[in-house]
Amino acid sequence: MERHLAMELVRITESAALESARWTGRGDKNSADDAATRAIRSKFDSVALDGTVVIGEGEMDEAPMLYIGEKVGNGRGPRMDVAVDPLEGTETVANGLDNAISVIAAAPQGNLLHAPDIYMQKLAVGPKLAGQLSLDDPIETTLHKASRILGRSLPEMTVSILNRERHRDLIAALRQSGVRIKLLSHGDVMGAIETAMDNEVDMYVGSGGAPEGVLAAAALKCLGGEMQGRLLPEQEEDHLRCKRMGMDDPGKLLTMEDMVGSGSVIFVATGVTSGDFLNGVRYLPGDKAETHSVVMHSVTSTISYLRTIHHDPKQISTLQAAVI
Ligand code: FBP
Repeated sequence: MERHLAMELVRITESAALESARWTGRGDKNSADDAATRAIRSKFDSVALDGTVVIGEGEMDEAPMLYIGEKVGNGRGPRMDVAVDPLEGTETVANGLDNAISVIAAAPQGNLLHAPDIYMQKLAVGPKLAGQLSLDDPIETTLHKASRILGRSLPEMTVSILNRERHRDLIAALRQSGVRIKLLSHGDVMGAIETAMDNEVDMYVGSGGAPEGVLAAAALKCLGGEMQGRLLPEQEEDHLRCKRMGMDDPGKLLTMEDMVGSGSVIFVATGVTSGDFLNGVRYLPGDKAETHSVVMHSVTSTISYLRTIHHDPKQISTLQAAVI
């Protein structure tokens, strides 16, 4: 049943990608996000699911659609928590850059962390390093442990991190250690996932959005990797948000189980603009469009890649009008 649900969910991210990709490079991140959000909201109604949004576009008073606590699905399927980022990489799309995706994760009710939209300190790794490192260790210790476990010297390892001023000291420490560094401009869901994709990146560190942390943890669970996190509330309001979401100790080290529970999890994503694993939306002659998606399922440990040609004339004509 969950396999079927995963295929229904990927149809939703495909639709969001098709709608938001037309805003590529147009300098309007809000419209790009809005297009993706509307597409996702409208498609959810037909899915056999009794879903509750636990990560979405914000709290009820700040988001008209896909707000935290909103019910999604037709109410006649499994009871699931839903984490959704209609457009992960709004700036990326607005600036016509790589690696924007539309993404949904789902798990049986009560399993996904209700993460407030604040920063989270993160450490993400692939299967070889899963369970072997601690976010509490200084970065130098973590790198040396990883190097020993992987059997590679520090200059043979690559660590990715968002290129942000707040990471100045961390980036300096990474440079000092001799590892290679992949500086990300945006998009740390894919940044974290890459550590488990048999690519050249061994570890993702630094802080990014907490909701994105939970989404990446869902994918890493399917891939046998690991994410550790710690929420970073700054203002009083952030602390209150954590409390409202049921977190009495926001400073707690968050494990995979805290973020995605112990049961099954589904992760689906569709490329909006092209990235390392997923190509972006491509418009084809004859009122068609092509999307590339990934569907992951933790129970079966399956990762499926989907290339879809869309023939929906109504949808495509909107898209083509926008790209002319
Ligand atoms: P948006 O889709 O909201 O633009 O987020 C993109 C992103 O790069 C995330 O992947 C990441 O977690 C977060 O922004 C980092 O935030 P900041 O840009 O403030 O460092």
